[in-house]
Amino acid sequence: MDADLILRSFEIVAERRPDPAPLVYGRLFARFPDMRPLFVRDDDGSVKGEMLSRAFEAILDFIGRRHFAHTLIQCEVVTHEGYGVPPEVFGTFFGAIKDAFAEILGPDWTPLMAEAWSELLAELDLYVTHPDQMAPRKVA
Ligand code: HEM
Repeated sequence: MDADLILRSFEIVAERRPDPAPLVYGRLFARFPDMRPLFVRDDDGSVKGEMLSRAFEAILDFIGRRHFAHTLIQCEVVTHEGYGVPPEVFGTFFGAIKDAFAEILGPDWTPLMAEAWSELLAELDLYVTHPDQMAPRKVA
């Protein structure tokens, strides 16, 4: 997975769309409409915003040193089951981030970037679907 390309996509999103949350959650709720009411407490969008920024931090750690991302993702899968979020929704959430980024980047979204993100999603999925696996190899 080419971490530099993923990083570059984050940089462009930060420049162009400081709040990508509506694009991400719009996609997530289109795919899983029954997830929307779980955010009933979130009347001002701050829970969704906080959650997305934690997910971004986890991805940025996951593509780099992996200090905490793998454990965090495995823990969140378990905690979120308590909120009524089935594990398979995580893959859609990460996919929604990828698709939102592609939309924001427009012509700057390259095939190599898409490939790097697909590889990232596949790796993240391993941690979601096998929460009992051992600590991963470190990248870089
Ligand atoms: C790596 C992925 C994820 C991370 C790091 C994460 C993190 C978090 C965090 C930190 C909160 C608490 C935010 C706050 O109260 O300010 C939260 C709440 C929540 N998350 Fe996630 N989340 C992830 C994935 C998901 C997915 C895929 C869903 C599916 C819809 C989801 C649904 C929720 C809901 C419904 C709440 C609100 C619970 C409440 O009202 O107390 N999360 N998440």
